[in-house]
Amino acid sequence: MLKVKNLTKKFGELIAVNDLSFEVKKGQVYGIAGPNGAGKSTVYNLITGNYSYEGKIEFDGHDITGLPPYRIAKRGIARTFQVPEIFPSLNVQETIRVGSRFGARGGLDLKHSDEIMNFVGLEEDRLQHTGLLNLLGKKKLMIGAALATKPKILMLDEPMAGSNASEIADLMVLIRNINQQLGVTIIIIEHFMKVLTELTETLLIIESGSMICCDKPEIVTNDPRVIESYLGDSYAEDK
Ligand SMILES: Nc1ncnc2c1ncn2[C@@H]1O[C@H](COP(=O)(O)OP(=O)(O)O)[C@@H](O)[C@H]1O
Ligand SMILES: [Mg+2]
Repeated sequence: MLKVKNLTKKFGELIAVNDLSFEVKKGQVYGIAGPNGAGKSTVYNLITGNYSYEGKIEFDGHDITGLPPYRIAKRGIARTFQVPEIFPSLNVQETIRVGSRFGARGGLDLKHSDEIMNFVGLEEDRLQHTGLLNLLGKKKLMIGAALATKPKILMLDEPMAGSNASEIADLMVLIRNINQQLGVTIIIIEHFMKVLTELTETLLIIESGSMICCDKPEIVTNDPRVIESYLGDSYAEDK
């Protein structure tokens, strides 16, 4: 569904993404991990058309290389951000409707927006001003606004950051439901290995913009290169 071929992005002297190729299949939950500064968020920014780059990206059988962000969004690619980005002056229901208005197909769909609001578990907060939501509520809202665009693929950037164990469990259920019940393909960047090993079918590890390895999570987390460069020996010992 998403084919990334020989992707390279330089910021001046810095090579943030270095000849990276990978493929996400329809229906997958696909994980990306790697140290801070590895280039993970930059990969999202390239897929969504925020920067120019070398290489080629195909989505759903179409070459989307170089398309502007709004056209890529219309093809059905949605994302969330590491830090929840919301409109604090709107309420929950309005925010999800804004997502719907910028939707991939058909534009504003009030019925679908409300279904999504319920799906992410925010129906009781529908008239709450978004600025007053707690962190988990803000995360659910950001995911809801992305889903309201009716994406084929949803790219989550460190959705668990700052969450406690029960919030992580809650978000994991939500992510699995989005994949299985809504049929949305998911890419997830995450630091918590437990989350990745439980949720994903394929795990890509990158470091300094380059692929270290890419395979099933149980193979990746036992790969000596990954243990050395990212997980550390303590991870191997704790297992
Ligand atoms: N817009 C930008 N301009 C210059 N450097 C950037 C920009 N965005 C990211 N970088 C740099 O690219 C590298 C990769 O960043 P990023 O993709 O955010 O890493 P990650 O998400 O894996 O932590 C870092 O060294 C970061 O400082
Ligand atoms: Mg990042």
